[in-house]
Amino acid sequence: MSRIVFLNGSFLPPEEAKVPIMDRGFLFSDGVYEGVGVIDGRLVDNEAHLERLERSLREIRIDNPYSRSEWTRLEQELVRRNGMTEGFLYLQVTRGVAERDFFFPQGVAPTVTMFTQAKAIADTPAARDGIAVVTVPDRRWERRDIKSISLLAQVLAKQEAREKGAQEAWMVEDGYVTEGGSSSAFIVTKAGSIVVRPLSNAILPGITRQSLLRLSREDGIVLEERRFTVEEAYDAAEAFLTSASNFVVPIVSIDGRRIGDGKPGPITKRLRELYLQMAREPAVAAE
Ligand SMILES: Cc1ncc(COP(=O)(O)O)c(C=O)c1O
Repeated sequence: MSRIVFLNGSFLPPEEAKVPIMDRGFLFSDGVYEGVGVIDGRLVDNEAHLERLERSLREIRIDNPYSRSEWTRLEQELVRRNGMTEGFLYLQVTRGVAERDFFFPQGVAPTVTMFTQAKAIADTPAARDGIAVVTVPDRRWERRDIKSISLLAQVLAKQEAREKGAQEAWMVEDGYVTEGGSSSAFIVTKAGSIVVRPLSNAILPGITRQSLLRLSREDGIVLEERRFTVEEAYDAAEAFLTSASNFVVPIVSIDGRRIGDGKPGPITKRLRELYLQMAREPAVAAE
């Protein structure tokens, strides 16, 4: 099946989906995005992703081009046209095409793009064996709660992680972990409670994080929503990350230091199972 992408109301082959060089996303990173996981051909937590998209658009004052039901219909249509059963749906809205000028252009329609990326999520080596992370300084702007397409700091952070043999970067500010380059960061204390940074402008409100916290509460796991330092993470019993494109992934080393016994821990494994079950539950999916 050949790939189909979405551009401003049309489903097209990628080579026909062209955006002008004056697009403000290209010139200023003036736009926002969402990434939604797909499993068994269904969008996971899609309502929450669309709610966050609405908020991101509001915060940067771009009119939402579609209602929630229109977005859902278009997303499902794209997944269907690509025959994707497992992977990731990316959608992006920019302020549109206008002569380069910092001020908001008047009467310009936003540019809307979407594409899918087929990939394994449920059963991957990272999920089975865990991954390594390294810490890097958090060099981002102050409104990290907006899912901005301006990702240069994360590109540099994640590339640094890769060059050091790790799969994710944990960004650090004032000695405290903020979040991963493209994931939310968690540790599990030796007493068995989960620690995660509270929501603020310092981090993205992760949708997977939100569902994971709900599942943990329902499962009776003790939650501590507070900041944690890099030293506390080194000394944790377990560590893991969450994201829409990976669900729950165990972390077995941080800056080359082994976490716990260097294998995915029992609480992480349990949460991954609970999340997978939830994602596979048709009642909460978008169809
Ligand atoms: C900086 C950052 N934090 C957290 C996340 C995880 O958020 P979600 O669970 O909504 O994918 C992402 C995902 O891309 C991210 O880029």
